[in-house]
Amino acid sequence: GEDEGAFSRFGTGDVESLAAHSKIHTFGDLLRELETAQNIVVLCGAGISTSLGIPDFRSADGLYKSLDLESLGLSDPQEVFDLEVFDQDPTPFYRVASKVMMPTQALISPTHAFLKLLQDKGKLLRIYTQNIDDLEHIAGIEESKMVQCHGAFHMATCRQCGAKVTCESLRPEIVAGEIPMCRRKRCEGVIKPDIVFFGEALPDRFRHMVRSDIIMGGPTPKVDLFLCLGTSLKVSPACDIAKQVPLGVPRVYINREPSARFYFDISLCGESDLAVQAICEGMGWDLSHPQMKPMD
Ligand code: APR
Repeated sequence: GEDEGAFSRFGTGDVESLAAHSKIHTFGDLLRELETAQNIVVLCGAGISTSLGIPDFRSADGLYKSLDLESLGLSDPQEVFDLEVFDQDPTPFYRVASKVMMPTQALISPTHAFLKLLQDKGKLLRIYTQNIDDLEHIAGIEESKMVQCHGAFHMATCRQCGAKVTCESLRPEIVAGEIPMCRRKRCEGVIKPDIVFFGEALPDRFRHMVRSDIIMGGPTPKVDLFLCLGTSLKVSPACDIAKQVPLGVPRVYINREPSARFYFDISLCGESDLAVQAICEGMGWDLSHPQMKPMD
């Protein structure tokens, strides 16, 4: 009936079976699971960078609410990152890119530092980040541990001839609000950063790693704890990871607001920096990092 349909949204089982297998009911349970976990899979989003002043997308003070759609000639904020719109007119994207998409700061948040700590303690299997700010790399997360689901502002590609350049080489034009054009002779193509737009496929690596880490278990060890941080879980297929986690694997959500669409064993609703600080205090871990922005 209708009820089962509603619950079946949780992927590997309905709420009853997921809850029946839950091993985490209290903060203490969470610390105990963290102690024994050796293959933590993290899914993170823009919420882990907002304490650095980098706006997220959908909060009241997020990027989408800050756009003047009228002047951009758009009807929906997501069109800024829409491939069809870009190919018709790259102006809206580059007007926005110059403002928020090229962070030059090398400061990371306590949450980024926490992810690095999980790696240092040999507990991190993979980080699936939806962010394009590359701050996980600056925090020291190894390439092999990373999946940048939506690409990153690292390389850029000509929409006509496929020529590749670094985003850094485009910075002067982007900051000036100009449209970077292909450098190749006789090519009039527009250059687009290698970030995943709506209408564009995610990198192949995404599906390969989800298959081996989460769904099939494959040659690499399976996930033993799923940690979801600072994401509204509104954009598929990245958010679908939250319901592909095998039954019985603890699912932890750290976010300002609870999720209405996905089942979690425990949700710490609040600032992720404060949550990870409390976790580190509980674990007796030292949350320090040379590039970490001091806590307010
Ligand atoms: N601590 C905890 N949670 C936070 C914090 C914080 N300091 N700041 C914001 N949040 C929460 C917000 O409440 C929100 O639920 O983080 C979430 C951010 O959600 P979005 O703005 O939707 O960002 P994200 O989930 O990363 O978006 C996914 O959408 O536009 C696309 O490609 C873009 O990768 C992006 C994708």
